[in-house]
Amino acid sequence: MNLIVNGRSHTTTAGPLMTLLYVLREELGLTGAKAGCQHGSCGACTVLVDGEPRRSCLALVGTLDGASITTVEALGEPSHLSDVQVAFNEHYAAQCGFCTPGMLLAATALIKRKGGPVERDEVVEALGGHYCRCTGYVKILDAVVAASRGERLGHMAPPTLEVRGVEP
Ligand code: FES
Ligand code: FES
Repeated sequence: MNLIVNGRSHTTTAGPLMTLLYVLREELGLTGAKAGCQHGSCGACTVLVDGEPRRSCLALVGTLDGASITTVEALGEPSHLSDVQVAFNEHYAAQCGFCTPGMLLAATALIKRKGGPVERDEVVEALGGHYCRCTGYVKILDAVVAASRGERLGHMAPPTLEVRGVEP
């Protein structure tokens, strides 16, 4: 099976019943997609498949030949974050960060689909299947609404130190 992952072609050696989550994390080392519940309930493994959010723990490789996959690693760079990433930072919408990649991708897809400002209830619906143990969700909703409106608070949390050699 051939996948286009973050714009690059990847021919997987995984069997057709292996999950996309396995290919991303174990073959490609893209550990942004998190292995949470691994049965479709928590949203931590969410990536974009042909632009739409999908639970990568449930997406079988055999169904994805030729699909275009976007993971959080392709959303932005530390020096050039995406608008949604900036908003999460400014609104303190990430704490431990385990849910954050899936939230960012689902929010990015929502804003792109809407093509303009989104309402709070639309964010609730789009992120309803994403669990966060840390934030209480309010700051996440604030961040997504602000990003959709192009609002910037103009302050950023200080960049975190990159710790190498530690499995995310
Ligand atoms: S790890 Fe896929 S939904 Fe929880
Ligand atoms: S920030 Fe910790 S689970 Fe959401």
